[in-house]
Amino acid sequence: MDIFDIIKNRRSIRKYKDEIPPEDLIKKCIEAALYAPSARNSQPWYFIIVKEKDKIAQLSKAQPYTKFLEGAPYVIVALADEKKSNHWLEDMGCAIMALLLEAHSIGLGACWGAIYHPDSMERENHVRQVLDVPKNLRIIACIGIGYPDETPSSKKIKSLDEAIIKIV
Ligand SMILES: Cc1cc2nc3c(=O)[nH]c(=O)nc-3n(C[C@H](O)[C@H](O)[C@H](O)COP(=O)(O)O)c2cc1C
Repeated sequence: MDIFDIIKNRRSIRKYKDEIPPEDLIKKCIEAALYAPSARNSQPWYFIIVKEKDKIAQLSKAQPYTKFLEGAPYVIVALADEKKSNHWLEDMGCAIMALLLEAHSIGLGACWGAIYHPDSMERENHVRQVLDVPKNLRIIACIGIGYPDETPSSKKIKSLDEAIIKIV
């Protein structure tokens, strides 16, 4: 499949089939993230794979918009060592995007659950306590992932003319 088709057709998937994907497929998505660009090739990322149901249920309570995680067979927690990069947040965006695209390309569905918040550590503290995350790592996202069990309605995207404000 052309990368443009993968980019165009990827959607956030928040409902998952009961069938549990093999762990190797989850690891493959994380492996894709490892190839992402990062400032000065700092690669500040780390990941936790969560499959225990009670832990997933606790993670889903991080904030109102992470409730969907409860139905996920796996949650991938994306972590960053902020000392490794002065652009750790952007680095993590690149890594998570690669992970989401790989998930879509191998028939999985995934959705970003926001944990990092610029004004509050509350969500991070919640996840840190549930998973005993080391203190030196920031917690960026809890990504629900599994076989998709929904087809999201079509999404209106900005036109190219609107997005390109100037060609000089
Ligand atoms: C930084 C970021 C944070 C997000 N946080 C959440 C979230 O907490 N809960 C959720 O259901 N979706 C979350 N999403 C998914 C967006 O809602 C979704 O990407 C957007 O609506 C566009 O839909 P699409 O991914 O299907 O193209 C997040 C996405 C990004 C990039």
